[in-house]
Amino acid sequence: MTIHKDNPDGLDEAQAIDHVRNSDLMTTLFDEDDQLEAVSLTEGNINLIYRVYSSQDPMGKSVLIKQALPHAWRYPEFKLPRDRARVEWEMLEMEASYCPENVPRLYFFDAENSVMGIEDLNRHTVMRTGMMDQAVYPKVARHVGRFMARTLFYTSDFYLSSGEKKALQSRFINPVMVKLQEDLVFTQPYIDHPDNRWTPELEAQARAVQNDAALRCEAFQLKERYMTHHQALLHNDFHTGSIMLNADETKVIDPEFAFYGPMGHDIGSYFAHLVIGYAAQEFHAKDADVRTDYRNWIIASLHETWMTFAAEFMQLWEDEGNDGWPSAEFRRWYVDQLLQESAGFGATEIMRRTIGVAHVDDFVQISDSLTRATAESLALNVARRWLMERRGFTSIDDLINVVLAAEPTL
Ligand SMILES: Nc1ncnc2c1ncn2[C@@H]1O[C@H](COP(=O)(O)OP(=O)(O)OP(=O)(O)O)[C@@H](O)[C@H]1O
Ligand SMILES: [Mg+2]
Repeated sequence: MTIHKDNPDGLDEAQAIDHVRNSDLMTTLFDEDDQLEAVSLTEGNINLIYRVYSSQDPMGKSVLIKQALPHAWRYPEFKLPRDRARVEWEMLEMEASYCPENVPRLYFFDAENSVMGIEDLNRHTVMRTGMMDQAVYPKVARHVGRFMARTLFYTSDFYLSSGEKKALQSRFINPVMVKLQEDLVFTQPYIDHPDNRWTPELEAQARAVQNDAALRCEAFQLKERYMTHHQALLHNDFHTGSIMLNADETKVIDPEFAFYGPMGHDIGSYFAHLVIGYAAQEFHAKDADVRTDYRNWIIASLHETWMTFAAEFMQLWEDEGNDGWPSAEFRRWYVDQLLQESAGFGATEIMRRTIGVAHVDDFVQISDSLTRATAESLALNVARRWLMERRGFTSIDDLINVVLAAEPTL
């Protein structure tokens, strides 16, 4: 049954409720006599999102309805393919098959209307928001390290047969969404593009990035890796805004950019946002001791994430890898170079979040521009060294030492 016409304005509240009423959720989560209500969530930019809940038990009986429109929800003039909803759903299914505890429960997908119903994570916080309040998450490093190891390993040529991998890859070409990343992450920050913006006090440092021939050469090497190196199925927007969590649970959301790319891009992107969170404590943690303690936690978490990832990835490869890679030396080499490449991709992610078009709340919420520039300057200095010195990195401590030594240079 078609629940609503393909309306460019998307579902209204009543239609969002209809989707729930016409699903299995009426027997598995809700009861027929529940009175359902819908409220629009406005935190995101790209999709229409409703929370549909029972007015008798709003926290206990609740579901999230997400619809991809033919454009970005917040910017209607910005056209986007609705197929991103299929990509997101199929990626969530893949992630759920390897790490069910790290994705929201998946209830239904209506391909005709690009609508999905997923678990309402109403007891979880967006990690970026938590970090701005110095929230400590003791388990997130182990959860994220393991999630990345499993999703990347099980979709790679080290586990799948050559044919299986190519068949999977063909479902995740996602050309328009990936082109966006190619442009926004890897091109625009390194040219004089009208969409670029930065805090005024950062002018000299931003121009120094754009005018540094050696640095640009490194950035374009990573762009080429991003476009041509189909190592594993990536989330491709893996940052602290795509993680919802609490002290016990970690859930990865929003994989609408998923495609086959270099593993270091997901890993590096997550590291980059830890560094951004670290730098932004300049403002968010007012008390010096609180700031130091929280920065120490971020550093420890960065360390544990990589150590978990590397150990888990290596163990999976040894235990479950296919027979195409009979060399322990190659496996060690691979993980070593993955660390270096993660540093490179982490650097490009920091740069694009400070001098490109899409900025993040950690910095945006710093209203005083000199304070904001100070924090951004520190992050940019980490990025520059991660990018330029990455080939010398042999352990996660090398990346961490760069962060610990970083100062703002305004
Ligand atoms: N399963 C969920 N449960 C509760 N809240 C959620 C859930 N998924 C998303 N949200 C909330 O909605 C916001 C936007 O979600 P999401 O990032 O999936 O949407 P989007 O439209 O793709 O946004 P973006 O512009 O970030 O790409 C999240 O930051 C979070 O606050
Ligand atoms: Mg999104």
